[in-house]
Amino acid sequence: MEPWHTSLVSAEATSLRIRGYDIAALMQKRGFAATVFLLHRGRLPTAGEERLLNGVLVASADHGAGAPSCAAARLVASGNRQSLSAAVAGGILTIGDAHGGAGAACMTMIASVIARARDLDLTIQEAADRLVDESRSAGRRVPGLGHRVHTVDPRVDVLFSMARDAGIAGDGVAAMQALEVAVRSRVKPMPTNVDGALGAVLFDMGFPPEAGMLLFIVGRVAGLTAEVAEEYAREKPMRIKFAVQYDGEPPRELE
Ligand SMILES: CC(C)(COP(=O)(O)OP(=O)(O)OC[C@H]1O[C@@H](n2cnc3c(N)ncnc32)[C@H](O)[C@@H]1OP(=O)(O)O)[C@@H](O)C(=O)NCCC(=O)NCCS
Repeated sequence: MEPWHTSLVSAEATSLRIRGYDIAALMQKRGFAATVFLLHRGRLPTAGEERLLNGVLVASADHGAGAPSCAAARLVASGNRQSLSAAVAGGILTIGDAHGGAGAACMTMIASVIARARDLDLTIQEAADRLVDESRSAGRRVPGLGHRVHTVDPRVDVLFSMARDAGIAGDGVAAMQALEVAVRSRVKPMPTNVDGALGAVLFDMGFPPEAGMLLFIVGRVAGLTAEVAEEYAREKPMRIKFAVQYDGEPPRELE
């Protein structure tokens, strides 16, 4: 049989290596964020990159039981007490363009702002203004902006200043900040959210767009496992009930 080809991990009878590094050395000398970076990028991070990716993972870890991913995980755990993994997977399934996955679209949008500024000899702000005008004409929301809870997302400035301190912040952070300015005057004041911030710093770290969603998932799984564990430990099965009001056809008879 033709073997699968991979450059991630080699697992032999007595050894295990990630991207060529012995697992024991990684376990003893490096942290989880460095290992995530190594898996995705094929090299170990610099100290600044490691701190920043760690910040991204911590920022993504949990947003309370009411966040869609956490609520979904608890709902699955409420109805199915026989599968921890189903509950965690149920939470992950909510992650998408509106929740936790907007970082991927942000990274594509940031790349387009930067390419437009370069190709048309515009400032980043001018390119961001045009992109927001086009999004509005097309009736599209701008990913990475707005939040159901926060008027200021407490994770954003921290990630941006960590990126600046590490000498990593560049056009990605500048483009995201320009998009926030463009939306403020064209739609309404809306904060950059965690997806926008992690999209910007991952862009400046050289990650591809899909990392904007995948690395959020890596972080959020930490919170989902705790949410599910608490649901099992503290709550009765089937405790989650919604108020539901029927507003369809009144009772009627079959002909
Ligand atoms: C996060 C989000 C879902 C919150 O939505 P919300 O609670 O409905 O937001 P608000 O009540 O503050 O705003 C509602 C209005 O502002 C506009 N608006 C909200 N976010 C917008 C955005 N990112 N770009 C443009 N317009 C936006 C909407 O068009 C909406 O008007 P409508 O109801 O006439 O369509 C929303 O801001 C959004 O879709 N953001 C983009 C996706 C994203 O970044 N998700 C990650 C969240 S952490």
